[in-house]
Amino acid sequence: MREILAQNIADNTTFYETEYKKESYIWGINPNHSCFRVMELIPPTKPLKLLDVGCGEGKDAVFFARCGYDVTAFDIAEAGLEKTKRLADKARVHVRTFRSNLLDFRLDEKYDIIYCSGVLHYIKPELRNEIMENYKSNVNSGGIVAMNVFVEKPFIAPPPENEAHHSYLWKSGSLLTYFHDWYVESFKEYVYDCNSSGVSHKHALNVLFARNYDHNTKRTDLNALQRSHQP
Ligand SMILES: C[S@@+](CC[C@H](N)C(=O)[O-])C[C@H]1O[C@@H](n2cnc3c(N)ncnc32)[C@H](O)[C@@H]1O
Repeated sequence: MREILAQNIADNTTFYETEYKKESYIWGINPNHSCFRVMELIPPTKPLKLLDVGCGEGKDAVFFARCGYDVTAFDIAEAGLEKTKRLADKARVHVRTFRSNLLDFRLDEKYDIIYCSGVLHYIKPELRNEIMENYKSNVNSGGIVAMNVFVEKPFIAPPPENEAHHSYLWKSGSLLTYFHDWYVESFKEYVYDCNSSGVSHKHALNVLFARNYDHNTKRTDLNALQRSHQP
């Protein structure tokens, strides 16, 4: 079991290491739409700590740093982290980076925002509970998670072999269930066309924004929530 896991991680790492060594940014340098939603939900009007899990080449991490968030980002691919640093230097901002495997790494410090795009399908299903609980318990009161995950749908063909990279599609809706005790700002499902591997295909994606209103939440925050969300 351990050997299979190690092999899967090695394949995955090799793929991204190779791709990220190319000069061009394979995911581009413009931020994902979700970054703007984060800005709306929790604007950086005071110092806010943000963690980008699986930052890739850093387009989103650098965007957040440019907007004034205090950004930490990690990925398993060293070449991606180097590109992240280069992009940050170019924008004259700082992004704290470190290399880590999300399957082993557990948070021991809290963030105001945990952001994770296009990565959670690399978590083996049997590790999901532990990792999601670790992330949840390390978001400050009033903070948010912004996460998306590829999901399986009977009407969508599995991704082409060269895009699967030992990934594990989630069941539609299951990301939401991890946040049943948080305030769900929004949860949506999208189907979109993709041609990243040169073979035209579709993906289904669940996109979640949830806020940690826990027992430390101030009454004034809850009153404001009631006023702004009258049905
Ligand atoms: C589809 S890319 C998304 C990159 C970035 N979040 C973005 O949206 O541009 C998936 C990323 O997950 C990273 N990754 C895959 N397996 C990982 C693991 N076990 N630990 C940490 N990062 C991993 C890859 O290196 C890659 O950068």
